Amino acid sequence: MANNRTFTMIKPDAIAAGNAGAIIQKITKSGFKIVALKMTRLTPEKASEFYAVHQGKSFYDKLVKFMSRGPIIAAVLEKNNAVEDFRALIGSTNPDEAAEGTIRNLYATDVTENAVHGSDSDENAAIESQFYFSNEEIVSYD
Ligand code: CMP
Repeated sequence: MANNRTFTMIKPDAIAAGNAGAIIQKITKSGFKIVALKMTRLTPEKASEFYAVHQGKSFYDKLVKFMSRGPIIAAVLEKNNAVEDFRALIGSTNPDEAAEGTIRNLYATDVTENAVHGSDSDENAAIESQFYFSNEEIVSYD
C-alpha cells in the first residue's frame, strides 16, 4: 500500500521536558505501528539539510538552531492513511491553533518548539524516512 507510512521526529523541546514516553504511547495507542525508531542528535548541517525546503524563510535559522540543540527521536510509523491521520493526531504547526487533545496542543511550547514533526505527503514521508534509516532498519511485522 502506498499511503501506509509516515515519518516523525520527537523534537528536542519534548525530550528535554520528559515528554517523549507519553508522546510515543499516544502515537501507538492511536493505532500507529512503529517500524523504525532511533534517538540521535542532528548537527546544524544535518538539521539544515533536513529542513532545506524552508531555507530563506524567516524562521529557518531559529529552526536549525533549535533542532540541533539536543537529541531527537526519529521514527517510521505504519497505519492506513498514515500521513493524513498522523497530521490530525499532532495538530496544527502553531500549538495555539492545534485542536484539543492533539500532541502539539498537549506538549508544544510555540510555533518553533512544537514537540513533533510529521511528514506532509507520502513522497516526503519516504524521503524523510530515508534521511535517517536504511531499508534494513525499517522492519515489517504483524
Ligand atoms: P515542522 O512540522 O517540523 O515543519 C517545519 C518547522 O518549522 C515547524 O514544524 C516548526 O518547528 C518550524 N516553524 C517555526 N516557525 C514556523 C512558521 N511560522 N511556520 C511554519 N513552521 C514554523
